[in-house]
Amino acid sequence: MSAPSTASTKIRGLAGVVALDSEISAIDGEAGTLVYRGYTIEDLARDACFEETVYLLWNDDLPTQAQLDELNAQLRAERAIPDAVLDLLRTTPRDANPMAVLRTAVSHLAAFDPDADADVTDRAAGYRKAIKLTAKMPTIVAAFDRLRKGLEPIAPRAEGSTAFEFLRMLTGEEPGARAEEIMDACLVLHADHGLNASTFTARVIGSTLADMYGAVAGALGALKGPLHGGANRAVMEMLQEIDAHDLDTRQYVEQKLARKEKIMGIGHRVYRTLDPRAKILGAMLEGLSEEKGDMKWYEMSLAIQQIIKDEKGLNPNVDFFSASVYYLLGIEADLYTTIFAISRTAGWTANLLEQWEDNRLIRPRAEYIGPRGKTITPIAER
Ligand code: COA
Repeated sequence: MSAPSTASTKIRGLAGVVALDSEISAIDGEAGTLVYRGYTIEDLARDACFEETVYLLWNDDLPTQAQLDELNAQLRAERAIPDAVLDLLRTTPRDANPMAVLRTAVSHLAAFDPDADADVTDRAAGYRKAIKLTAKMPTIVAAFDRLRKGLEPIAPRAEGSTAFEFLRMLTGEEPGARAEEIMDACLVLHADHGLNASTFTARVIGSTLADMYGAVAGALGALKGPLHGGANRAVMEMLQEIDAHDLDTRQYVEQKLARKEKIMGIGHRVYRTLDPRAKILGAMLEGLSEEKGDMKWYEMSLAIQQIIKDEKGLNPNVDFFSASVYYLLGIEADLYTTIFAISRTAGWTANLLEQWEDNRLIRPRAEYIGPRGKTITPIAER
């Protein structure tokens, strides 16, 4: 029998609650480690590309060369988006939030997939949908970014890595090896992260046996929030505000803390030490800043990191340094969360495939604390 809903069983924000078993990713918040199916994030970021990571998340282990070639062919073949989705992007106001646009476009994709409402226990159909979603996400983001600038979208090619094609479709130019390498590593780093808010959302939706597109659209809705994936955009806006008004960084941070405002990109529900992804991204930002001869954002970030550590004992999370990395790659701030989404689609879909292997409806309870026993006064007398 399920436990009664009493004050003693209520946990605000479900912090620390273990809701299900998963074999996909493991976080140790005390040690500051992240592992995807047994491989450390440090090893994966250094030695595996995004597509290998996607394969790992969807399967039991890293692919052989033949398996990777097959997945690459499948992803490349699915990059194009239906004309109707392109039309939707064309008719969307240019100032729309790109995450909202992506959420709507993903939902619309379902109408063009004959597998959309296939039985969720049909793993082969689920795998095909995971490929389609992961492949089309960069195309949608790049197409909307070009359309809102008055430019024609660039059609995806059935070649090159996800990172390469995304940057090419965004800018119209083939990215250099370094930009591709950095984007690829960023995609590896963001691909999965336990039962975070958007993955939980996806699994809740999936647990009703609703379809994968609906679950991913719901996950996108959750990722957009500034307490989750939306933080990377907010970090860049903070850095730009400090820079544009020539503000004193310490004063800026202290004033925010005094007003009980959050510093974006800082703090984490699970990590009690430095987020391992932030460590990797910080080093990546340092190298990229040196290459570009622009240390400003890195130095500003380090200063904020130190102040917040001294004042609150808190550390940067994944969104803190990724913001400046994307900035130095020439990407607009309001696209940062969509990059997170492009990558996390691999994790969301892996979690959905896992959910449907042994599904149980996810349905917690709330303790009702409102009034009881009221009687209805006729409307004319209220
Ligand atoms: N800036 C300033 N203070 C912060 C903070 C931040 N970014 N994050 C947490 N804190 C403080 C809180 O004010 C609180 O302090 P108090 O006990 O003195 O009141 C304490 O740390 C606990 O914070 P709380 O918000 O309860 O933790 P949480 O586990 O609910 O929240 C986050 C986790 C990630 C939502 C939170 O750290 C946050 O809002 N960070 C900024 C947004 C962000 O970067 N999100 C991306 C996450 S990957």
